[in-house]
Amino acid sequence: MKYLKRILSSLWSSMSSVGRAFSLALTLVAAAVSLSSPTLADVVKERQEIMKAVGQAAKLAQNMASGKLPFDPARAKGAMRTISDAPDKFVKLFPTGSHTDPETAASPAIWKNMADFLSKAQKLKRVSSEVAAAAAQGEAAFRIAFDKLSRVCKDCHQSYKLKKR
Ligand code: HEC
Repeated sequence: MKYLKRILSSLWSSMSSVGRAFSLALTLVAAAVSLSSPTLADVVKERQEIMKAVGQAAKLAQNMASGKLPFDPARAKGAMRTISDAPDKFVKLFPTGSHTDPETAASPAIWKNMADFLSKAQKLKRVSSEVAAAAAQGEAAFRIAFDKLSRVCKDCHQSYKLKKR
């Protein structure tokens, strides 16, 4: 470490002032680039946050469907809105190689079957919108529609979410 410092400081003092200004400029550019381009870990975290919100919304709806919480059409609709807003944002957060992140539960199968993964995400959007519409028709309609939604979650997780977490 000391050795490295010595080399760097002798390099620095042997540079012309133009060279110093140039290397400082390069450092600033590199810092700006690393600030503006999110790391892989950031992207993974963001897609997990989206799914976490989906999970919380689904839980609220599940509690209403099972009678644990009183059925409230506005809350049910709000929860479904959270879910149907998610897929379009979610699918943009799967850059190639992001299955290698140590925190992710995303299966490498996603990148082998991207079209199918995208279609399952679209299905989540469609079915959650249907459940929102059903909620406006009353509790019984909501229950029937919601039952279909949990199968959409399971269907994608079985193929594309690893169980390790
Ligand atoms: C199109 C596929 C797909 C659908 C549909 C889907 N999920 Fe996910 N879900 C995933 C993937 C992939 C992950 C893992 C993301 C990661 O770790 O990078 C995940 C992760 C999660 C997590 C863990 C989030 C965290 O804290 O890391 C929860 C909770 C979750 N999903 C709930 C749901 C619920 C509830 C539904 C249905 C209403 C649903 N998901 C529908 C693909 C999907």
